[in-house]
Amino acid sequence: MLNGKTIILGISGGIAAYKAATICSRLVSLGAEVHVMMTESAAKFITPLTLQTLSKNPVHIDTFEERNPEVVTHIDLADRADAILLAPATANVIAKLAHGLADDMLSTTMLAATCPIVIAPAMNVHMYEHPAVVHNIELLMQRGVQFIEPGTGQLACGYVAKGRLAEPEDIVATLDQWLNQPKLLAGKKVLVTAGGTIERLDPVRYLTNDSSGKMGFAVAQAAQEQGAEVTVIAGRTSAPAPQGVELVQVESAEDMLQAVLARFETSDIVIKSAAVADYRPKVIHNQKLKKTGSDELVLQLERTTDILETIGKRKSHQTVVGFAAETEQIDVYALDKLNRKNCDFIIANDVSTEGAGFNGDTNIISIYSKQGLVERLPLMSKLDAARRLLNIVAQHALEAKDDERDR
Ligand code: PMT
Repeated sequence: MLNGKTIILGISGGIAAYKAATICSRLVSLGAEVHVMMTESAAKFITPLTLQTLSKNPVHIDTFEERNPEVVTHIDLADRADAILLAPATANVIAKLAHGLADDMLSTTMLAATCPIVIAPAMNVHMYEHPAVVHNIELLMQRGVQFIEPGTGQLACGYVAKGRLAEPEDIVATLDQWLNQPKLLAGKKVLVTAGGTIERLDPVRYLTNDSSGKMGFAVAQAAQEQGAEVTVIAGRTSAPAPQGVELVQVESAEDMLQAVLARFETSDIVIKSAAVADYRPKVIHNQKLKKTGSDELVLQLERTTDILETIGKRKSHQTVVGFAAETEQIDVYALDKLNRKNCDFIIANDVSTEGAGFNGDTNIISIYSKQGLVERLPLMSKLDAARRLLNIVAQHALEAKDDERDR
């Protein structure tokens, strides 16, 4: 399946760089057009001549070594590439990519590229587990970069631990799968809500909740990976939104309602992962509230409109998915919400369980349809949970479309 694809093979400076020769040779034997880019450090571990001989193309190290006056090489290659495979990737090159540094041919090209990027890290276990490296990998994953986990075994530094470059065959197989996976949501419009709403009391005070937006953003990224055109309506968030989605910033439940309704008719799938206020202050004071002589202040709250219920009533062709943040009797309350709000799916998370719900990078979700429990997923990253969820929702949306056509 890699036949005819243009692949940039990026090699950075670690001992595993010698394995890049096998990767290059495998890609070429599968029919890919391979352009190798090496960092200067990589060229200390394996010669450019080896890679040039295997790839049958010039190897690029220096950004300023322009061989063809008709093009700017790093832009030309970035534009032509179907994918970039960075193997092995050192902590340094991962950090550069995460923070947008472009100080050599490889990092400059990667910054200019819009194609899928697959990264296979290789480094000492303590480096791999360093919070800075973990954070940089997370940042890149949020931007849609695919990582191939290193293996565990004898490391060149003497440790027997995690950090070995994954096997070249597995790296090539992952790249192949990633590039050729069917895009279930190509041509579909997916609307996602994320984060928590803010209900103002006065110009400097408000009611809100702990939602970080991470779950909603993971859902948006998973939908985008499936080829959908994604719009995210986000309240208050503390995580970065995935790149490439349309981001609409809102504040209150009422703002979110209006933003959702404005886009509902043209959406194919709506996924409501935002934590929306059920109540808001009845009066919003124009000026900062002053202390009174009394020890107590009673706030009067009024109900907000339930956005999910509103779109559940209006839905025609749309697949509507709600979330349910529960702390007890998860199944009962989730199914009650699914029926009351006329959803196609409801995703329950027990927000009282360690590793699930608000703020963290992981979740434990159960997916329900009108027929009952579809799948109960174990603890996993929010992105992996979102990918599993999107697979199920996308299949449902496609089947519904087929049924509609058959009628
Ligand atoms: O953002 P994170 O930090 O990653 O946390 C993720 C999450 C815990 C917020 C998310 O996984 C989640 O559970 N979101 C739904 C939270 C919630 O508001 O649940 P609920 O059970 O109160 O509401 C049920 C559904 O109705 C939700 O889809 C909600 O968006 C919707 N709703 C609620 C009230 C309202 N006025 N309008 C709504 O549309």
